[in-house]
Amino acid sequence: MIRGIPAIMRNPLAWLERVVERHGDLVAFPMPKTPVLLVNTPVGARHVLQRNHRNYTKATIQYGALSLVTGSGLLTSDGEVWRRHRRIMQPAFHHGGLDQVAISTVAAGEQLRDAWDQSSPYAPIDAESAIMRAMLTVVGRTLFADDLSDAGSDLVEAVDRALRQVIARATNPLAAGPLTRLPTLSARRMRSAVATLDQVTAGIVDRRRAQGVKAEDTDLLAVLLRAAGVGSDDAVTTDSQPWMTDQEIRDELVTLVIAGHETVASSLVWILHLLADAPEVQERLYAELDHVLEGRPPSWKDIPALAYTRAVVDEALRLYPPAWVITRRSAAPDTIDGVDVPEGTLVIVSPWLLHRSAKSWPDPERFNPERFLSDSVSGPGPGPGPGDRNPAYLPFGAGPRLCIGRDFALVESVLLLATLLRDRAVLRPAGVSQPVIEALVTLKPKHGLPMALIPRTPV
Ligand code: HEM
Repeated sequence: MIRGIPAIMRNPLAWLERVVERHGDLVAFPMPKTPVLLVNTPVGARHVLQRNHRNYTKATIQYGALSLVTGSGLLTSDGEVWRRHRRIMQPAFHHGGLDQVAISTVAAGEQLRDAWDQSSPYAPIDAESAIMRAMLTVVGRTLFADDLSDAGSDLVEAVDRALRQVIARATNPLAAGPLTRLPTLSARRMRSAVATLDQVTAGIVDRRRAQGVKAEDTDLLAVLLRAAGVGSDDAVTTDSQPWMTDQEIRDELVTLVIAGHETVASSLVWILHLLADAPEVQERLYAELDHVLEGRPPSWKDIPALAYTRAVVDEALRLYPPAWVITRRSAAPDTIDGVDVPEGTLVIVSPWLLHRSAKSWPDPERFNPERFLSDSVSGPGPGPGPGDRNPAYLPFGAGPRLCIGRDFALVESVLLLATLLRDRAVLRPAGVSQPVIEALVTLKPKHGLPMALIPRTPV
C-alpha cells in the first residue's frame, strides 16, 4: 500500500480501477495499523451507508483532513453533535425553500449568459470558474440571504486552496500524521485559506446580526442564529443554553459554502462536456426545452415537465459523481458480503467505480440519459431519484447521512442547464482538447473547460 502511495496521489481514479480489475469487488489491504477494505458491490456499499450505518463513523483520513477546514460541521461530525445539527438544519432544506433556490438559480444563470455573450463573438470562456461563481451566489442568496458579492473571488480562491491541501493530506497518509504540524509551505497555505474562510463567514454572521433575524426568516443562517439564541422569542434553546455556539455556526457555514457550490458546479461542468460530444442528446434536450419553455427563462413550475433535462443531470452524476469516494471507519467487527471487517477498518466506497461497473449498468461508459427517463418526476420538487431503483447509484450517498442538499442540487442543476441552453447550443471550440479529470474533493477538469454558448434556432 505504501508503495502505491505515489500512484494514488498521481491518479486516484485509475488506481481504484486497477485495484478492482486485479483483485475483485471486495479488496482488503492488510495494513499493520489500519486494515483497509474497498467495497465495490452495491449490497456492500448500502450495508455500510444504510443497513448497518450505526457501526460506521466518519473517523477517517478523508473526513479528518476536511475537518481541518470545516471543523465539526455536518459533513464531518458524528454521533450526538451530528444528530443535533441535522435536526436544527433540516427544515431550511425542506421543499418550501426550493422555490427560492429556483429564483436565485435562474437569476444567476441569466447573469452567466450575459457574461458569456459579452465574450463576443461567442468566444469560449472557462465554464468551470464561471459556473463555480454562479453557484456560490446561489448558496449565498438562498442559505445565508447574503449576496457574497464582496467576498466572491476571495472565497472561491480560498475554498480551492483549502481543498487542494485537504486532498493532498487525504490521499497521502504520511501527510496526515505529525508532519502536518510542521511549518511547511503547505501548512502555511492551509492556514491562510482557513483564515480567509473565517473572515468571510464572520462577515456574513455580523451583517446578519446587525440586520436582525425576523420570526418569518426561514433561510439557513436565520435558523442557525435562532439556535444560538439570536432573534429571541422563538430562539431554540434548552435549559437556557443555546443549541449552537458561534464556532458551530462558523463550522456549518464553511461546510455549506464548500459542500454547496463545488459539487453542483462540478456536475454542471461535466454535463456541458458530455453534451458537447453528444449531438443526439443535445437535439433531444433542445427539443424539450423549446417545447416546455418556448424561449422564456424557466421557473420552479417547469421542473416536472423537464424530464429529459433531469435525466441528463442524473446520467452526468452517474458518469462524473462529484463525490467520487466516500469513507467510513468500523466501530465494531462486522461482515460485509461474507468478508470479515475487523474493528477500526477504513472502508472505502467509490461512486466512481460503482457507477461505471458493467455488473450494474448496461454499456456503462456510454452517456445515455434515456436509461433514467422512467424515473421522471411527476409532482413539484425534484422527486425521487434513480438511486431508489438501482442500488448501484449513489451520487448523494445513502442512509441517514444522505446529502442534505440533494433536492437543492437537483433544482439548481436542472434550472441552470435550462437557463443556459433555452436558446443556446453548447460547443467545445475547435482545437480544445478533451479535459483531464482531476480527482480533488470533487472531480474537476484539470486545466479548466473552455466552452462556447452559441445562439441556435429552435429544433
Ligand atoms: C453530504 C454529494 C450538493 C451539503 C453529501 C454526501 C454526498 C454528497 C455523497 C454524503 C457523504 C457521506 O456519506 O460521507 C453531493 C453532490 C452534490 C451535493 C453530488 C451536487 C451535485 C450539496 C449541496 C449542499 C450539500 C447543494 C448544500 C447546500 C451537504 C452536507 C452533507 C452532504 C451538509 C452532510 C450531510 C450529513 O452528513 O448530514 N453530499 N452533494 N450538498 N452534502 Fe452534498
